[in-house]
Amino acid sequence: MRLRKAVFPVAGLGTRFLPATKASAKEMLPIVDKPLIQYAVAEAISAGAQELIFITGRSKNSIMDHFDKAYELEAELEQRGKSKLLETVQEILPPGITCIFIRQAEALGLGHAVLCAWPAVGDEDFSVILADDLIDGKLHPCLAQMQRVYQEYGSGVIAAQRVPESETGAYGIVEVNPVGSRLGEIQRIVEKPKPDVAPSNLAVVGRYILPSRIFKLIERTAHGAGGEIQLTDAISALIQEQTVLAYEFEGDRYDCGSKLGYLKANVEYALKHPEVAEGFREYLSARSSAWSESGKDQ
Ligand code: UTP
Repeated sequence: MRLRKAVFPVAGLGTRFLPATKASAKEMLPIVDKPLIQYAVAEAISAGAQELIFITGRSKNSIMDHFDKAYELEAELEQRGKSKLLETVQEILPPGITCIFIRQAEALGLGHAVLCAWPAVGDEDFSVILADDLIDGKLHPCLAQMQRVYQEYGSGVIAAQRVPESETGAYGIVEVNPVGSRLGEIQRIVEKPKPDVAPSNLAVVGRYILPSRIFKLIERTAHGAGGEIQLTDAISALIQEQTVLAYEFEGDRYDCGSKLGYLKANVEYALKHPEVAEGFREYLSARSSAWSESGKDQ
């Protein structure tokens, strides 16, 4: 019951972040000083992943470079005596962790991106992390929380979060039968329902623990809206065959695929960053006083 393999679909076009994503990867956008994908990788490793499978596309080479050894940079830092920075660079990927990169030739949707991982995953259960959903799991990283549920129930687990009813149209929405605290068996899953037809306000977010059976079901999934193959459709077929749980994780999620979510994440992580927290807090406080003053003037 170990989850050795984690899949990172990073082949999306990132249109909400154009022009930043025209020639570079959305997943390389930094939250303070670390790219989104590095947070995702650290989370997977904290849950026991040893093999990281990246589904990449155009303009994503920097992701491969980020997890590769940078001989020249390391030699330069060593020569200049910058040992702390050298450590920072060397710690990006701990020893014993393997990376596999698979190209998704066309961005045919999240379901299709996951399907591309099949040759590398084989017939094991595996996890999927969407790096642009940054989750601050507080006491325990989100995937580690989910892994505990997986160990206990031995079934697929999907991260879920309550969202305002007006926002159901932006998510996969599930209807569940409660099983325990924060846990429900998925009865129905619907992709982006309008609020008036949504079965609940419990939204699927970017963490999944799935059985390899999902690959066969994705293969059978027809192209949906916009010609994309939706993972939601394959999960809908999976729940007809076996139990899949929705788990309301503990922590805060930032939708870093959107500009506002990305900015919020930077503020929150900066306020915890040992190097900049103090100065940033002072700046925000001065800024907020200036706002109050200008408010009084109006
Ligand atoms: P998004 O829905 O955020 O799409 O994909 P996107 O293309 O990245 O961004 P926008 O909406 O155009 O701004 C959710 C996740 O699925 C991956 C993305 O990289 C992201 O992590 N994905 C999506 C793929 O890997 N391949 C695809 O064909 C589609």
